Amino acid sequence: MPDRYDLPTGFRWGAATAAYQIEGAVTEDGRGPSVWDVFAARPGTVRDGHTGAVACDHYHRYPEDIALMKNLGLDGYRFSIAWPRVLPTGSGPVNPAGLAFYDRLVDALLDAGITPLPTLFHWDLPQALEDGGGWLNRDTAHHFADYAAIVTDRLGDRVPAWITLNEPFVHTVFGYALGTHAPGRTLMLEALPAAHHQLLAHGLAASVLHDRGLEVMLSNNLTPVEPATSSDADLAAAQAYDALHNRLFTDPVLLGRYPDLSALGVPDDLYGAIHPGDTDLIAAPGLDGLGLNFYNPTRIAAPTEPGLPFDFVDIPDVPHTAFGWPVVPDALRQLLLSLRDTYGKTLPPITITENGCSVTESTTPDQPRIDFMSAHLDALAAATAEGIDIRGYYTWSLLDNYEWAEGYHQRFGLIHVDFATQQRTPKASYTWYRDLIAAHKARHSK
Ligand code: FCB
Repeated sequence: MPDRYDLPTGFRWGAATAAYQIEGAVTEDGRGPSVWDVFAARPGTVRDGHTGAVACDHYHRYPEDIALMKNLGLDGYRFSIAWPRVLPTGSGPVNPAGLAFYDRLVDALLDAGITPLPTLFHWDLPQALEDGGGWLNRDTAHHFADYAAIVTDRLGDRVPAWITLNEPFVHTVFGYALGTHAPGRTLMLEALPAAHHQLLAHGLAASVLHDRGLEVMLSNNLTPVEPATSSDADLAAAQAYDALHNRLFTDPVLLGRYPDLSALGVPDDLYGAIHPGDTDLIAAPGLDGLGLNFYNPTRIAAPTEPGLPFDFVDIPDVPHTAFGWPVVPDALRQLLLSLRDTYGKTLPPITITENGCSVTESTTPDQPRIDFMSAHLDALAAATAEGIDIRGYYTWSLLDNYEWAEGYHQRFGLIHVDFATQQRTPKASYTWYRDLIAAHKARHSK
């Protein structure tokens, strides 16, 4: 296969997963319950009542999964550490068996020549912390920093770079505002203290990691926001949404200040959550890399009903994934350029920490996923040619897995998983990705 993606030498090829979506073994070896165990067990929360109790059984099958990664030629593997495996009640006693699992996982990855890229929090908060208010409680940020210290004391000798949080936007909005994800709260904009406490947790943990000489990234779900028309009302609605989805989670970290959310009627102190000095705690440690999770752009119109000041509008005339998400690869290039416009010199190097699509199980030979990834890699190459510093691409996902409120219905994997037998079968996209990684390496080793 020719290397048609003009990406730099040293570009890191990866794949991503998250603990609750693949591990299973939720009651094994002293793991405590997470908000997702409790939420998924509640009738009516997840499609067909699916839970992550078994998921891909990766907790037991990780050697087989790492062999598949090695065969793929991955440079890096992004996974998440389940906080309730390490600290079953979120704070307090450490569970040695939980830490030991990640120790084995890291060693097995290193043996396979794959650099581990762990995320410390990918939505599976220990239920005991949720019982005390979860991310609405400021103490959770401090507990997170303590947890980060415990994990990096154990693994920091072998793992150079870490992601603190995954998509605080999605966790805040789906988990605390709309209630479609765990913990299932429906606070609408009054969920925003949960956003601030996650950002504070990021800042506190970033200091802990830097003290240990480790690199820190934050993975944000970002979306270019386009107004449905050029009317003033649609433009204002799009700006309000951009502030909420994108700037709220990136400005505090890169610029040391919150964006103006007054168009949403949100008070400057986010309902009393922001204390003096917090924005310094969030920004001062700095960011060694920005993790970008990209799926699609968002089209916004002025609201047609009272309530939130924006409406979501579909983007017609483009392909849509099995999940119904519009496919607009060039939006990734535009997003990268707009990040440079907004943040200038304060923009750190970027790593794509998620990008991929769900494809219906019966679709063979998995061509929509190949087309999706290929077009997004073209967008990355174009952005690179325009001077954006992009260090790597971690596709979502290595395996078909538990897609949160959709249960096992959305298949994002390069590898098919039969959830009845746990049989893994590489898809055509796996072979395609393997060949393109090999072609890129062959060209750059010359
Ligand atoms: C992202 C999540 C990831 C996965 C993909 C499809 O928002 O970070 O866990 O669910 O979407």
